[in-house]
Amino acid sequence: MNQFTSVKDVEDIDQLVKDALALKENPYAHQHLGKNKTLGLVFLNPSLRTRLSTQKAAINLGMSVMVMNMDKEGWALETEDGIVMNGTTVEHIREAAAVMGQYCDILGLRSFPKLTNRDEDYNEDFFNKFIKYCGVPVVSLESATRHPLQSLADLVTIRETWKAESKPKVVLAWAPHVKALPQAVPNSFSEWMCKAQELDMLDFTIVQPEGYELSEDFTPGAEIMYNLEEALKGADYIYVKNWSSFKEYGKVLTYPDGWMMNNEKLKYTNDAKVMHCLPVRRDLELSSEILDGPNSLVIHEAGNRLWAAQAVLKDLLQGLS
Ligand code: CP
Repeated sequence: MNQFTSVKDVEDIDQLVKDALALKENPYAHQHLGKNKTLGLVFLNPSLRTRLSTQKAAINLGMSVMVMNMDKEGWALETEDGIVMNGTTVEHIREAAAVMGQYCDILGLRSFPKLTNRDEDYNEDFFNKFIKYCGVPVVSLESATRHPLQSLADLVTIRETWKAESKPKVVLAWAPHVKALPQAVPNSFSEWMCKAQELDMLDFTIVQPEGYELSEDFTPGAEIMYNLEEALKGADYIYVKNWSSFKEYGKVLTYPDGWMMNNEKLKYTNDAKVMHCLPVRRDLELSSEILDGPNSLVIHEAGNRLWAAQAVLKDLLQGLS
């Protein structure tokens, strides 16, 4: 791997999951790889899990880590080419990314979508320019359209906890929220689950109200449903997540009652384990009774963010000359 921005960057997802679980057993076995190597983490948006798990993963591998909260502490960045910078932006991404590449062996970047212009967000213009100009391997800490470190941790969690011979049924279920949220987490989860389904690891269904369908680019092979109770029948894992509309881009549409996940709905499932990337709005997206009960995997899943990040950084370090 020479970058980690989507499942498409990974040659063998099954091997990467195995690497993550091996690192969980033996976290400090590869400290020589990170000696005298620096990871730079650049955030344009808030983070708890991604920030701490990726830092800890780098420390476990012997790396030094620098964190830049670009939105609060950096210069306002210009991304357009060919314009006179006589407005509010102070530094062009061409120089800013190239300079960070001088100080770091690997860079991580978090940059959320603006949710106003679909083409602009889905072109990943900012992310692609950062990759182009920094000159070192880049790890996505969540882009406008994807969150691959989260999705890898999710697949690790399913593989680690599923003990039966049969394939698990995994359901991505839309849930309510008060704000318009990006599609990055569900896009990415779907992309990784579709790849896992292609490799015969699991069966994958997405259920959402009308109007909340994800881009088909991220859902090849997924069963798409609109009836929550029907979709939950026989489910082994439910991945609960809100997202704003892709069709009516960035909008919160009206939806029927009954989309919050609670114990009542678990009755339709095969005693399903419930996942969520966090942060979660209690009793809006997901009931407290689930979060505090035996079916919740959310803390285990967040713990696995560390091993997912460490597996990715280990692979990238091995590729450095
Ligand atoms: N799930 C996740 O990425 O959490 P943070 O936004 O806190 O990093």
